[in-house]
Amino acid sequence: MGKDVIVACDFSCAAKTLEFLDLFRERKPFVKIGMELFYAEGPDMVRRIKDRGHKIFLDLKLHDIPNTVRKAMAVLSRLDIDMCNVHAAGTVAMMEAALEGLVRDDGTRPLLIAVTQLTSTDQERLEKDLLIREPMKEVVMHYAQNAKSAGLDGVVCSPLEARTVHNACGNGFLTVTPGVRFADSDKGDQKRVMTPAQARLEGSDYIVVGRPVTAAADPVAAYEKCVKEFCL
Ligand code: C5P
Repeated sequence: MGKDVIVACDFSCAAKTLEFLDLFRERKPFVKIGMELFYAEGPDMVRRIKDRGHKIFLDLKLHDIPNTVRKAMAVLSRLDIDMCNVHAAGTVAMMEAALEGLVRDDGTRPLLIAVTQLTSTDQERLEKDLLIREPMKEVVMHYAQNAKSAGLDGVVCSPLEARTVHNACGNGFLTVTPGVRFADSDKGDQKRVMTPAQARLEGSDYIVVGRPVTAAADPVAAYEKCVKEFCL
């Protein structure tokens, strides 16, 4: 499995997104479309970005009863996306239903991964807000094992947990890791962060990078720096 950098296009509208993507003339980044952009522009945004030659991770983090998620995934499977996700907290039954819904008529499907714990959640919030008393690494590992038993392809976790997940679920089980910051950049609301180079050492398969690229003075240079540190 080749390593790649996924750029989180957390923009409010199509115009801002396409203006940003226009900057990338040589290498077309793997693009993450999240809730803000998808809710603003709908499925057409997926088609427009795909037509420009980008791979797409549709990050809608579904979490509902299994029947609802199965049907929602069947709708999303009609889009030409490469990866999508659910919350592992929705249970094994919900993840199995998501996988069933995602398989297209021709038998193909996008990669399906599960969010373990958001990278904005730290141990204190885990205990106080969610009443989960186990250490973060154990919670992430348990959720990853649930995702694997449901047949999913991998998880979203912090790069700090990538090695633990691979040890528990095997190296072929994907770790997609947001919470990436350059050594000198602002953490923002992220708590469990690492640099692209550290994420590589920890064995992440994909890093998801948003503001360190989208808000950089030179986004292409920031993206290339991520690629150089993480992939090469
Ligand atoms: O700007 P930043 O690099 O923090 O963006 C990270 C992206 O990854 C955001 O789009 C966020 O929604 C997403 N994400 C995350 N933590 C997760 C799952 C997704 O930060 N566990």
